[in-house]
Amino acid sequence: MDQGQRILPVIDLKGLALGVITRTDLLRLMTSEVTGGHEEARRRVSGLPYERNLLGIMEDRLPARAMSLVRALSNIAKDLDITVYLVGGTVRDMIMLKGVSDLDVSVAGDMTKLLEVIPQKFPVKKIKRHPRFKTATIFFEDGWKLDLSSARVEYYERPGALPVVSQASIQLDLQRRDFTINALAISLNEDDFGRLFDFYRGFQDIKEGLVRVLHSLSIIEDPTRAFRAVRFATRLGFKISKMTQGLIENAVRGGFLHNTHPRRLLTELIYVFEENETYKAMELVDHLGLLASIHPDLKLNPITKSLIRQVDRVRDWFHLTFGREGTPFWLVYFLAVTEPLSQDDLERLAKNLDVNRKEAKILINERPKLNGILARNRRRGSSEPKPSEIDKLLSPLSWPGILYLMAKSSGEFLDRAGAAYLAVYRRVTPMIDGDDLLNLGLKPGPSLQKALSALRLARLDGEVTTVEDEKAYARKNFLPPQSDSPQEVPSILAPTQAPDPQ
Ligand code: CTP
Repeated sequence: MDQGQRILPVIDLKGLALGVITRTDLLRLMTSEVTGGHEEARRRVSGLPYERNLLGIMEDRLPARAMSLVRALSNIAKDLDITVYLVGGTVRDMIMLKGVSDLDVSVAGDMTKLLEVIPQKFPVKKIKRHPRFKTATIFFEDGWKLDLSSARVEYYERPGALPVVSQASIQLDLQRRDFTINALAISLNEDDFGRLFDFYRGFQDIKEGLVRVLHSLSIIEDPTRAFRAVRFATRLGFKISKMTQGLIENAVRGGFLHNTHPRRLLTELIYVFEENETYKAMELVDHLGLLASIHPDLKLNPITKSLIRQVDRVRDWFHLTFGREGTPFWLVYFLAVTEPLSQDDLERLAKNLDVNRKEAKILINERPKLNGILARNRRRGSSEPKPSEIDKLLSPLSWPGILYLMAKSSGEFLDRAGAAYLAVYRRVTPMIDGDDLLNLGLKPGPSLQKALSALRLARLDGEVTTVEDEKAYARKNFLPPQSDSPQEVPSILAPTQAPDPQ
């Protein structure tokens, strides 16, 4: 397998060929201890699919906009003589009564034509094509998204390699998918519009709340599915089926995750971090050995577990205060799970995971600073720094860094200080501006900016609260006193020339 050998000839002692062992034979052997004779292994992989008409359910559960889109798509497909099916997450979420926000559609036929015609009928913002995977995403002006994939056969050149694709029918399209709950299709074609095609009992698994692979090589072929199983189980409140769990554990034990580029594993881990119930998902990721297969020292311990819970708490606060967009929260979770690693180990891991310069700046360069602040905070005693001091401490840090400090010092001073800085302090500005300072007699130049910064800090500490306060503060601190005997003023704040007499 290491050398990409597809078959192994078997000869007898005289050198006569007895037969061959294929890679699939080996993989089957490796997975047989999990699947052997088990009821789950006897999947219905051929024969007639479970069919039923879901038109009523579609009309009931798809938003009107989505319904008009799929109807239009159906008409366009008919004109172009191609077939289209609603598939994947859209069907799953619709059956489960979850909100559908984009449409996954499988296309059998010439997708290029479809991509030409759709923008003629709907206002399209942009189209993203991935010719290598024969997929495309259409972003509509009104925010809806249409993910198109070609019905295709997919085989793997070696376990963990990127899929190589070619055209085929909807059944073959479904057959290549990760879990039965994602392997459902609803026809959008004129003669059976609304008909559900279910070859793998996915409908039943949705009802029973099970995440289940379609066949026993699924995880070995694409180890990222191990992380996906965790995500779907956590998000939908499902269980990973016993057999699927066994296959994941087997793939981990067999080192198959290492066949996948580490950055792809990190991407999957980031998706896990981005789930709503991150703590729950991370417990499962850890339990299945997936974290340890990224780095042996990444197993969760009581400290990292409680830290992840705290990051969950800080994230909820953040989303409530600033909305869901804004900061890459995965960096905060990553800082939490890598807490036990030495700086050297972390640097090696980050290099292996191919983190980019911007990410490394936080994960590697900022980390010692954050630990230093936490250590100093522990020695601080009961005295609480002034807002201006908090501002000076936190303003050079990244947002993920500050959020990590908040999680790590839960309920303590730094936690409150971080929240105050992000929500209030960083937005505070003086009420007067550079023009006001010039009118007061300051001269243009860098001293103006310094004066404004000093005014901002004074305002943070409540030393000035009104425009008049600020003007008086500026006169007192940034202009030489108006008397015959000149007094010393701080050199950085001193105006370059004598103030205007008025
Ligand atoms: N898929 C797969 N194996 C993968 C990734 C994706 O088989 N490693 C298939 C699944 O059938 C999935 C479809 O491709 O339904 C689309 O992938 P994705 O958009 O990631 O899945 P969704 O089910 O739409 O998930 P989400 O709700 O998170 O968007």
